[in-house]
This record gives sequence, structure tokens and C-alpha cells, in this order.
Amino acid sequence: MDFLKFKNNKLSVNNIDLKKITKSKKTPYYFYSFDQLNKNIIKLKSAFKSSNPLICFAVKANSNIEVIKELKNKGLGADVVSLGELKLALKAGIKAEKIVFSGVGKSIDEIEFAIKKGILSINAESKNEIDLINAVSQKLKKIINIGIRINPNIKADTNKKITTGDKINKFGISIDDFYKIIKSKSHYKNININLLSVHIGSQIKDIIFYKKLLIVIEKILKNLKKQNHIVQYVDLGGGMGIPYFKTDKEFNIKKFGKMVDQFYRKQKIKIIFEIGRYLVGNIGAIISKVIYVKKTKDRYFIILDTGMNDMARSAIYEAFHEILPLEKNTKKFKIKVEFVGPICESSDTFGLYKSYPILKDGDFVCITNCGAYGRTLSSNYNMRPLIEELVIKRNKIKTVRKRQKIENII
Ligand SMILES: Cc1ncc(COP(=O)(O)O)c(C=O)c1O
Repeated sequence: MDFLKFKNNKLSVNNIDLKKITKSKKTPYYFYSFDQLNKNIIKLKSAFKSSNPLICFAVKANSNIEVIKELKNKGLGADVVSLGELKLALKAGIKAEKIVFSGVGKSIDEIEFAIKKGILSINAESKNEIDLINAVSQKLKKIINIGIRINPNIKADTNKKITTGDKINKFGISIDDFYKIIKSKSHYKNININLLSVHIGSQIKDIIFYKKLLIVIEKILKNLKKQNHIVQYVDLGGGMGIPYFKTDKEFNIKKFGKMVDQFYRKQKIKIIFEIGRYLVGNIGAIISKVIYVKKTKDRYFIILDTGMNDMARSAIYEAFHEILPLEKNTKKFKIKVEFVGPICESSDTFGLYKSYPILKDGDFVCITNCGAYGRTLSSNYNMRPLIEELVIKRNKIKTVRKRQKIENII
């Protein structure tokens, strides 16, 4: 999060002291930096300058309409996985011809809506789904282009709960089954298989897995040519990882860009990406108040007013995010500290620190890098309302989604 800086020991964004915002805003809340978002878009576009792909934003990473509008204004499309996400992307102004629809369990209603809207591609993930898309398309008297998501059997080195390209994962169609479908394509009168899609997982830090993936795709494209079947697009999915702590390794996006460029020159095919985390992960943070500092024999528990209902990643994936105090104390706790939320679950923890600057009841902290899979994974668990979201753009702060009212969730 390059936009977060300590100035005179006070955490600030664009010279705005974050503590000052807490005087008028009730914690916890999310905030997103649009300056960081624009920096990320430029970085991605310049890495893929030569192959010039259609970059679709994976809406599941962040469903704030203002964030999606900002991405749309920079020419991005959307990757959606539900009717709700599809309607949101359209409402944000993304044109149907820039939208791809992924997911293993699309319902008939979702398929019908997507066909009627004329989206770029419904990426099917099973033979049953292909049959259904063909039937719906026939009912609507249309012939549409679709994609097929392949399961390339590549196990990326990431948390096992977010690998999606291994043969044991539920996603995609095996390469052998894909060839069988292509062989029987004359049965499908109302669809044309025009896109090959893959997505091998999320928070992938090493480009070696993408290298393996491109080799697999090249082989498939070669075999398709032999079968006289040409696809116009290859959708390479998303998954590029980000550092969650300053000391974490960075994904080598420039090197990856060069790899994709080589692939593009050789295959002369249009490329699509479905990128979530790399675009928005580092744009967001949660500001939370310390309710109590509770001392035990073993550690201090820093009990925050935000919990796993607001930011579930740590509880679900044991994925910890760097936590920064809004005001840095030069003195440190003498024993370890654990940041926890108020939820009645032991998994409601935000991580353990061997050494941390002293905090007291009423102080504030910032949980960094919560822009992806933060608010979108949040829930009303323990009957807690979804929290407010703010945007900071240059020196302006604005609310882009209000805190829910308890009365409205009863
Ligand atoms: C099909 C699909 N595409 C794209 C993404 C976005 O992944 P990421 O946010 O890691 O870029 C996901 C998320 O796992 C996904 O399931």
C-alpha cells in the first residue's frame, strides 16, 4: 500500500491524517484509495502493453459500484460469477461486450439473462452447462459464442482453499473431455465455442505456474487446429498475488507481461484476463478502534471493533494482513500481542505479533490490503451490520456505501 505513509508518527493518506477521519466517522469502516487504484491500472496496462489484452475486473474481489465505475472509465471489462454481479457490472456502465461470465453453477435464469444481454462470453464449466446454454439459446432463437473453461491440472503454490486449476478442484472441464466436446460440436446448433478459458487460483506469487499454463494452452491450441477448430480468444484468468506485509515477495508482473507477449506473438489470438486482487487488493484498508487491551499471562489481546464478519480472510484462509497503528508509539509491548475481533469464534483473529508498539483502549489501527475479498466476503454474523465504505481521491473523502442499519437486517 504505497499510499499509506507515516508522517510525524501519524498514519496518513495524501497528507490526510487518518486519525482525523475517525472524529467524524464511526469505526470500523473500509476506505479505498483511488490514487492507488489508478496506479495499479497503469502498472498492469504497461506490463501487457504489447499483447493489449481485454482486462476484465473480477467483480467478486470488490463489489463497490464506485470502484467498478472507476475501472470502467479506464476501459476495463468485468468478469462476473452471478446474476447479481452481472447486473452490478452493467449498472456501473460496463458494456455487455466486455463482460465474461465464469462459475461452476450458473442457473438457467443467469444463463438466459446473460444471453439476452449479449455478453462477450459465458464460460461453461461442464458438459451439462454447455447442453443447457445450447437449449436456452435455441429457445431464444439465437446462435451465441461461448467459452469453455479448461481444468489444466496445474497445482499452483498458494493456499489450498484458493487453488482452482488442480484436477481435484471442481472447476473447469478436463482437457480430454474438452476434446470430446469439440469432436461432438455439430450437435450444438445454437452455440459456437470461441474461447478457451483457464483460472488456476488466486494469490499466486510465482510466474512459473503461468509458464506451465501457457505451455498447456499452446498444446491445446495446436490440437484444436488439427481438428479444424479455431477459437478467437484465450482467457487466462487472474490470480496474480500481492504482498500482504512489506517484507513479502512481489509478483514479477513485468516478466509475466513479457511471457504473455511471446505467447501472443506466436498464437496471434486475442487475450482476456480476469483480474481481481492485483487491481484492488492494496487499495483498501479497514480502520478499527481498539475496544480493550486485555492482558493475559501469555499475551495481550488487542480486541478490535472489527471482526471476521467484516474481513473474513484471516479466519477462512489464515491469511494475515499487516496491521498499522494510526499513531506510532515509540514504546513497545514487552510480550507478544494478538489482534482479535469481537465475534464469538476463536478463528476471529487478525494475527500474532512478537513485538508491537504499545496500544491502549480507544486507540485506532489500520488493517492494510483489504481491498480484495474484504467487504465482498463480509457477513451479518452475530447480527452485525455491514460497515461503511469511503473513497479517498487526492484530498477528497466521500462515503460510497453506507453502514447497514441493524433495524434493516432484523
Ligand atoms: C474464475 C475466476 N476468475 C478470476 C478470479 C480472480 O482472481 P484474482 O482476484 O486472484 O485475480 C477468480 C478468483 O478466484 C476466479 O474464480
